[in-house]
Amino acid sequence: MSVQSLEAVAKAMVAPGKGILAADESTGTIEKRLASVKVENTEENRRAYRDMLFSTKGLGQYISGVILYDETLRQKSAGGTPFVDLLAKNGILPGIKVDTGAKDLALCPGEKVTEGLDNLARRCAEYVKLGAKFAKWRAVITIGEGIPSSTCIAANAHALGRYAAICQAAGLVPIVEPEVLMDGNHAIERCEEVTEWTLNAVYEALYLNRVVLERSVLKPSMVVSGKDCPRQAPVAEVAERTVRVLKRSVPAAVAGIVFLSGGQSDELATEHLDAMNKRYAKEVPWPLSFSYGRALQQPSLKAWKGTAANVGAAQAALLHRARMNGLASAGRYSADLERQALAA
Ligand code: 13P
Repeated sequence: MSVQSLEAVAKAMVAPGKGILAADESTGTIEKRLASVKVENTEENRRAYRDMLFSTKGLGQYISGVILYDETLRQKSAGGTPFVDLLAKNGILPGIKVDTGAKDLALCPGEKVTEGLDNLARRCAEYVKLGAKFAKWRAVITIGEGIPSSTCIAANAHALGRYAAICQAAGLVPIVEPEVLMDGNHAIERCEEVTEWTLNAVYEALYLNRVVLERSVLKPSMVVSGKDCPRQAPVAEVAERTVRVLKRSVPAAVAGIVFLSGGQSDELATEHLDAMNKRYAKEVPWPLSFSYGRALQQPSLKAWKGTAANVGAAQAALLHRARMNGLASAGRYSADLERQALAA
């Protein structure tokens, strides 16, 4: 792919009013999601669930790209159309998760490093042939007693730098995802400090690996209070701290920033994104949008429950959350819109 088109793909991923649907759960992770609605984790059920999501009419109005898992990239809709083509017909770019998961980091108890660099160039070449336009790699940073260690930050930043370079060489736009987990009872100040540390290390690694930032997208976690912290910071504070850290750590050349939801409730994830755009869109050099997994899919999954008769309701639920987040990416969301939708 030409240099220009990698930049064009990166821009299209963060087009105004649009964001990304993360539907790249590994077979183990989707098992948990399906089990929550008592659906067995078979290849056909995974396919049917993704078919329901991807064939939602009008999804392309709010969703620029979908992140797929290896198995999903190769699957077809019930009508026999490959998912990649189905998405393209809706104006949606197909992406692919290329990491092979977060594994225990040797000699660093409680910490993880993401694997998948072995054979990555070969796998990327195949994904390009299958139609993928962008890729994702998620690094996980855990906050706890005495952690993160600098070992963990360095190992994960290094892997993200190598991954992003390999993707660009193969013709894929890398989504660079360093997730600082919400798990724990730490205060929001600690999350802010660790996020700033992580992002600085990540951009140093990207520079060392010659990654062209204009052809990349950042997928960070927001700066939030630990899940078990007695003080849960309000929306305005999350927006202020998140934007402050990004301004301090992310070069202006990066094509765009799409947040993960990380276990936030669907409406709170929307409110946080909206608050950032309402207050700070004019002060930051990048579009701020979403790449939510759970926060986009949860209501849809609950409505679906593995039953064909529920497909319409499940798609309506997905389209609604996609629209709410599309509005939030432009700072035009309000809680009233949720109530209006409920009343409709
Ligand atoms: P969540 O929004 O559910 O955190 O998922 C996004 C994602 O892609 C995590 O890697």
